[in-house]
Amino acid sequence: MIRSLITLLICCTVLPAQTITSPAGKLSLTVSMTADSTPQYTLSLGATPVAAPGRLGIMVKDIPSFLSGFVVAKAETSLVDESWDPVLGEVKTIRNHYRQLKLTLRQPAVKDRIMILTFRLFDEGVGFRYEFPQQDNLNYFTVTGERTEFAMTGDHRIFWMPGDFDTNEYKYAETALSGVDAAAYKDRGEIFTAGISGNSMVQTPIQMRSKDGLYINIFEAALNNYPAMCLDVDTKSFLLRSVLAPDAVGNRAYLQAPAVTPWRTIIVSRKAEEVLASKMILNLNEPLKLTDVSWITPVKYVGVWWEMHVDVASWNYADVRNVRIGETDWNALKPNGRHGATTARTKVYIDFAAKHGFDGVLVEGWNVGWEDWFGNWKEQVFDFITPYPDFDVKELQRYAKEKGVKLIMHHETSSSVTNYERQLDTAYRFMKAYGYDAVKSGYVGKIIPRGEVHDGQWMVNHYLRAVTKAAEYKIMVNSHESVRPTGIQRTYPNWIAAEAARGNEFNAWSSGNPPAHETILPFTRLMGGPMDYTPGIFQIKRSFYDPKRTEQVHTTLVKQLALYVTMYSPLQMAADLPENYEAKPDAFQFIKDVAADWDDTRILEAEPGDYITIARKAKNKESWFLGAITDENPRKTTVPLSFLDAKKKYVATIYADAPDAHYQTNPMAYVISRHLVTGKTALKLSLAASGGAAVSIIPATPQEEKQLKLYK
Ligand code: NOJ
Ligand code: CA
Repeated sequence: MIRSLITLLICCTVLPAQTITSPAGKLSLTVSMTADSTPQYTLSLGATPVAAPGRLGIMVKDIPSFLSGFVVAKAETSLVDESWDPVLGEVKTIRNHYRQLKLTLRQPAVKDRIMILTFRLFDEGVGFRYEFPQQDNLNYFTVTGERTEFAMTGDHRIFWMPGDFDTNEYKYAETALSGVDAAAYKDRGEIFTAGISGNSMVQTPIQMRSKDGLYINIFEAALNNYPAMCLDVDTKSFLLRSVLAPDAVGNRAYLQAPAVTPWRTIIVSRKAEEVLASKMILNLNEPLKLTDVSWITPVKYVGVWWEMHVDVASWNYADVRNVRIGETDWNALKPNGRHGATTARTKVYIDFAAKHGFDGVLVEGWNVGWEDWFGNWKEQVFDFITPYPDFDVKELQRYAKEKGVKLIMHHETSSSVTNYERQLDTAYRFMKAYGYDAVKSGYVGKIIPRGEVHDGQWMVNHYLRAVTKAAEYKIMVNSHESVRPTGIQRTYPNWIAAEAARGNEFNAWSSGNPPAHETILPFTRLMGGPMDYTPGIFQIKRSFYDPKRTEQVHTTLVKQLALYVTMYSPLQMAADLPENYEAKPDAFQFIKDVAADWDDTRILEAEPGDYITIARKAKNKESWFLGAITDENPRKTTVPLSFLDAKKKYVATIYADAPDAHYQTNPMAYVISRHLVTGKTALKLSLAASGGAAVSIIPATPQEEKQLKLYK
């Protein structure tokens, strides 16, 4: 239901400052004009300023910019209060409740050209965007930059990563705003690409904490037909300015009126938990655009995958270089004996998935071209229809069907995106012919067309083209190395997850992800949507496979379990090898039981960089799952289960770090215990250094009520 109240404040030549308050009165927003008639806004939480005056505007080429000289033609406010149900999600129903201020701005000096600024003020934040309606004086135009300012009021703590237009796979830094300096990354040799333009530039989303206790998150929503936004930090004045990813010739976007930009968002609360609970980014996206969504389902999967990352197997079939699609005779090549994606090995995973109730099996390295895929920047690396000689697509289709398991396709594009687009229909048709209905796509390396970047307008449009075309084929997409999600899965829920951050795989072959990493991601990358983080690694140490290797996962085993709850995604991988799970069936039980789609979510405790505790209720079930994680500091916490149905008794299975567990010295030590619990129970949890706790809470059978003891 939409309750909408419209007030019209008719045209004036000078804008008297317009102030609106959020529905429950928590936030207020004022929009005014500077002396040269540039629009600016301020935001406050109660009496506390969140954003001091920040100017708004868009720079364009060849015609005058949308920066100053505006008069207000119209100011309209309205109140919206509606609810909608996501296809897959953290909660069953989402309330979309905001007050809107829509300012129609006219530029008399540019033949009365019109730009609209729309602000939506929620109780937890604001979203605003630029709109260019169809008009005689504006048709096709080139955006050369955006001047959106976020004027922070102090030297806040900030979680950030370098403003790289080509990758999000960085560790986070935690500094003051005055300390933002990507030179530290350069010194450590940790800058991946040339796509970073300045040491003070950071990627969005950023999470900040002010000295007076405000948690402020800046991001964007509904990124479509526009480049992704970074922020340039003025380390003296704490003014943050938008920087858009450029295209090959340095322009930022090509728009044709009518057009809108993505929403610029500020979420703010005195409670960190409320930042994580916010659905504002989703609410700012367009409603569902697909009619039939019956084929979009949560997916728990395993895959021929981690064994390549720990180098027990290889993606490539032969140890040669300079192979050519369409010319190389793959049958004539000598197999290297380590190829992972063989028919036999895939069957092991299919059997394992069937036995333990997983929906899907991902297989990477099944198609020809991996001999030569990395670092070559050549156009024709892969087709997406030719299997290696030892991967029998037909037989595996038969076998998977017999076992009731779905195979998951892998399309590594190696960022040769024109090549991929040319073949997309063929690739999707091949998938459907062989029974695949989900694809993991990948964009490793530099983009072709040359000069484009992963986060530019051209690529943003590519990801969406791939997703909307996939929808025509009823295919779900999990994109890796793509631009960070901005809530578009509300509109196209077949974009089931993305990587777009530093995933668990970094723990396999690099300095890895520091213990705080997973406590930051929900405040940053996951604000825009689900991540295919690939948790569930049980064999923490790489030396297990090769005594010379020192890499390790920087968590305890139990923290890996807790990630299934703290890291929201309707697509969840059990990423380790079947053999490693079979060695620990009792701990594996949690991964088998945990849901991937939810009716309800409670963010119980959260502090970015330190800890997170979340409980979620499984979709259409009475079961709850709880995950608690901590950074490098051990942590004790008491968690009241007051969210449980007061009339019911439940069996809580607690997967806890052993008393002597530690992510470095003793990461795989755990203790499992079972108890009766009720809504009055408070669990006392003890988390090791970079440890966690995972709890399944399932309604008790009469027999269990008799047999088990009440938790004390
Ligand atoms: C990077 C992806 O994130 C990873 O999951 C995949 O295995 C490799 N690319 C190869 O495509
Ligand atoms: Ca990756």
